[in-house]
Amino acid sequence: MSVFEVGPGGPLRGRLSVPGDKSISHRVLLLAALADGTCTIRGLSDGLDVRCTLSIIRQVGADVDEGSDGTLRIRGGRLHGPDDVLDVGNSGTGIRLLAGMLAGLPFRSVLDGDASIRRRPMDRVLAPLAQMGARVSGSDGSTLAPLAIDGGGLTGIEYESPVASAQVKGCVLFAGLSADGPTTVVEALRTRAHTEELFAATGIDVVEEPGRITVSPGRPVPFDHEVEGDPSQAAFWAVAASIVPGSEVVVQDVYRGPARGGFVDVLRRMGADLYHDPEGGDLTVRAAALHGTVVGAEEVPGLVDEIPVLAVAAACAEGETRFEGVAELRVKESDRIATVEGLLEAMGGSVRTEGDVLVVEGGRLRGASVRSHHDHRIAMAGAVAALVADGPTTVDGWDAVATSYPGFADDLAALRGGGD
Ligand code: S3P
Repeated sequence: MSVFEVGPGGPLRGRLSVPGDKSISHRVLLLAALADGTCTIRGLSDGLDVRCTLSIIRQVGADVDEGSDGTLRIRGGRLHGPDDVLDVGNSGTGIRLLAGMLAGLPFRSVLDGDASIRRRPMDRVLAPLAQMGARVSGSDGSTLAPLAIDGGGLTGIEYESPVASAQVKGCVLFAGLSADGPTTVVEALRTRAHTEELFAATGIDVVEEPGRITVSPGRPVPFDHEVEGDPSQAAFWAVAASIVPGSEVVVQDVYRGPARGGFVDVLRRMGADLYHDPEGGDLTVRAAALHGTVVGAEEVPGLVDEIPVLAVAAACAEGETRFEGVAELRVKESDRIATVEGLLEAMGGSVRTEGDVLVVEGGRLRGASVRSHHDHRIAMAGAVAALVADGPTTVDGWDAVATSYPGFADDLAALRGGGD
């Protein structure tokens, strides 16, 4: 198991690019696989989660040509059943979106993943897919992965998910592309809009009304897409630059669409000095004194992945920060309520849960030995906290970071060296 050692140090300074957005990367790969023709994709996430989805679309017949500069040319449209199990690795987004796409295609496939994936709830996608008439089942009569899918013969439905989840929305809308009529997803709280945005951008008939998205069956037209920087990765640098005195960091070309920028609003409310340029997408952050805030349950879908690092910001702020309605964190790559608590407690922070509210008291952090629990975002949140701890920190299980941000440690070293 790999270990990353981080000590406190001087300011972070410089410009950097983060990996292409992970949510967008998965979706453009699925769309390219379905398009009848050649698509060109630049700036795809280089994390292992997205590599798994890339391997899977190859296994079902997409022809992928990878240029030395990372540009992908993908010829899709002639998909067939795979010879082997499809391995999503650690990716909840991968398995749920693929379950939707494959449920509509006329062949048998099996989706599986690592130990974390086998624990994560899949009933949230099996239920709507069953309503559409899909034959998708979990392992040994359960609703857990591996998922066996006998695709084809879907009926369009109207579906309101009991959980606010862009993965569920994406799953149902991808299945809807192969249904016999329109499919509508109703959402009480707006979740990230990548599926509907990318459907519209690739010529699919999708209608957005407040709280409702309706897709008609069809296929994308071949497209070119440049994936913008991942706001969830930019959030680590936004917090790091806010809490390390004297820092100034610019994260270039960060996606600015709906339900992804909640962390910017929350940090600003905490007193952070940051600006997300509406034109180019650059996110500029300077160090500032932070104070506590309340993050309401209705804000959570717009920053669900950023809570571990926002909790680090809260631990360095003056006063108390409350994250309300965070029950969904229990079913992420790790139980993030428990793993965030464990991380901050190990570093001398003060943190507690009150039902599904996570409460963090600001104070000082100390260097410690902490664990990733195989969760990339817990590992990176630990590294950010270590920047202001009094003494060195080791993050055990650092290899988890490769699922989404393989270059994180190099980027940190470059920012500590003053950037370029
Ligand atoms: C994602 C949606 C979110 C998020 C995940 C990516 C997506 O999950 O946590 O990292 O790409 O749709 P939920 O939709 O389950 O909240």
